[in-house]
Amino acid sequence: MIYLNGKFMPLAEAMIPVLDRGFIFGDGVYEVIPVYSRLPFRLSEHLRRLQHSLDGIKLTNPHSDAEWTRLVADLIARNDGEDQYLYLQVTRGVAKRDHAFPKVVKQTVFMMRSPLLPPDPALKTSGVTAITAVDNRWLRCDIKATSLLPNVLLRQLAVEAGTMEAVLLREGYLTEGAASNVFVVKAGALFAPPKDNLMLPGITYDVVVELAQADGIPVQIGPVPESLVRIADELWLTSSTREVLPITTLDGQPVGNGQPGPIFQRMDALYQQHKATAMRQRSE
Ligand code: PDD
Repeated sequence: MIYLNGKFMPLAEAMIPVLDRGFIFGDGVYEVIPVYSRLPFRLSEHLRRLQHSLDGIKLTNPHSDAEWTRLVADLIARNDGEDQYLYLQVTRGVAKRDHAFPKVVKQTVFMMRSPLLPPDPALKTSGVTAITAVDNRWLRCDIKATSLLPNVLLRQLAVEAGTMEAVLLREGYLTEGAASNVFVVKAGALFAPPKDNLMLPGITYDVVVELAQADGIPVQIGPVPESLVRIADELWLTSSTREVLPITTLDGQPVGNGQPGPIFQRMDALYQQHKATAMRQRSE
């Protein structure tokens, strides 16, 4: 079952008019929210980022947080599955084709869920491969916009190179992945780019930073030069659907010794523990 504009229905019955600005212009924003043991993880943070994205495209939020929370709970209740990910999208609705905003806007609201499979354990034991690519996106990468063509092309570049992700570099600095955030480990410390307009402020990124700080791992948030990426001991990618994964090959070269490193292993353990604790506290 999916949710579309006030109604729950089977996916096959859901229809969007072709003049929806989401279809015509990619004029919309979205969220991807993991659900563990049928409970949404960090929902209020995802809703806060949704508000930031809506503000960024000057679109009124169609729902209060309380309404979104109810809709999310309803969608979970109407579907099976313990671990899932929710996809939520808001567009500027249907209007005659014109780049400028329509005078009267009725947002299109769509939500669906899919099973969330834990990352293949092999990805954690041997790591994943990535290439670097020039970050040729716009200057508002902090907006989680549905107009994802540059990300799509960058990810395809990675896939055609036989790798899993593109690590993006802009003017000599790391920004993020095509669909993930990226961390560097060097000499036992964790380095991450700042949450500015050049990257999506990842919810998983925040979890990783919080867990590292609480565990006494030195964390340095600031511009990460490409030179540091090239001599990293460890490189990680993070996202709601892939959690934390070690990148062990970059542009065909081993990262560090080419194996997932000890700080990754520590972070993965902390992350799994945090997830379990958060879910236990929520269900009590
Ligand atoms: N993408 N950066 C980009 C460009 C992303 O698309 C994503 C996630 C992230 C990580 O954000 P978070 O930790 O909040 O998932 C960073 C989602 C999963 C997607 O588009 O499917």
